[in-house]
Amino acid sequence: MRKKIVAGNWKMHKNAAQTKDLLNQLLSEIPAETSAHVFVAPTFINLASAVENLTHSNISVAAQNVHQAESGAFTGEISADMLKSVGVKTVILGHSERRSIFHETDALIASKVNTALVHDMTVIFCFGEELKDRQSGNHFNIVENQLRDGLFHIQAKDWEKIVLAYEPVWAIGTGETASPDQAQEMHEFIRETVRKAFGSDIAEDVSILYGGSVKPDNAKEIFSKPDVDGGLIGGAALNAKDFISIVTSI
Ligand code: PGA
Repeated sequence: MRKKIVAGNWKMHKNAAQTKDLLNQLLSEIPAETSAHVFVAPTFINLASAVENLTHSNISVAAQNVHQAESGAFTGEISADMLKSVGVKTVILGHSERRSIFHETDALIASKVNTALVHDMTVIFCFGEELKDRQSGNHFNIVENQLRDGLFHIQAKDWEKIVLAYEPVWAIGTGETASPDQAQEMHEFIRETVRKAFGSDIAEDVSILYGGSVKPDNAKEIFSKPDVDGGLIGGAALNAKDFISIVTSI
C-alpha cells in the first residue's frame, strides 16, 4: 500500500541538546491523528538518543547515509550493522549533496542500496536533475538513468523497502520549488518508469516524495498532486512549527 510520508533531513544541523529539544517539540505537537508517516534524520552522532527519545511514538528515525562495506578500515564511516544496533531501520541514500560534494556515483549508491537491503533497512532513495539538465530538456533522461543505474538492479520483493524521493537539485535549499505541476509531471514519469521495469503493482505501491524547498506555504498544493506521496524536507524540518505545518498538510 502506498504510504503518505514526510521526512525531515536535518543534514549537518543540531547538536545533542538541540536534537532533543526539537524532538520533544515534535513529540508533543504532532497531532496523533496525522495521516503521514513521519521520519526524522538527525546526524549520526544523535541517532541513538533520537531512537530512545522517540520510543513509543509514531515518529521514525532515519540515517542520512551508510557505508557499503560490512566493516573494515574505513576511517570516519558508519556501517549498516551499527545503525541497526542502535535501532535505526531506515537510511537516506543518493542525496544530491552526497552525489555532488562527496562524489557518490550511481554505482556506489547502488552498492549502498544493496547493503541496506541485506540488513533489511528501508531506503529513501534520492535522485533528481540539475538546473542545466532541465534547461537543456534532458531532465527526464537524467532521472531515468539515476533510477536505472542506482536502483533498478534490485529484485521485485525489495520494493517494499524502497521510498523514492525526487529532488531537483536546483530546488534544494534555494527557496525555488518545482511548481506543483512540474512535480506531478516528473512523479508521473517516475511511476511510469517503475511500471515499465517492474509492473503496475510495484509502481502503484511505491511512495514518491518530492524534495526541494518545501515550506508550510507550498506543501499543501504540492502534496495535493496525485503522484506526490509526501515530502523530503530540509531547511523547514529544522523548525518544529514549520515541520509540523508541513506534516499536517498531507
Ligand atoms: P530543502 O532540502 O528543503 O532545504 O530544499 C531538501 C533536501 O535536501 O532534502
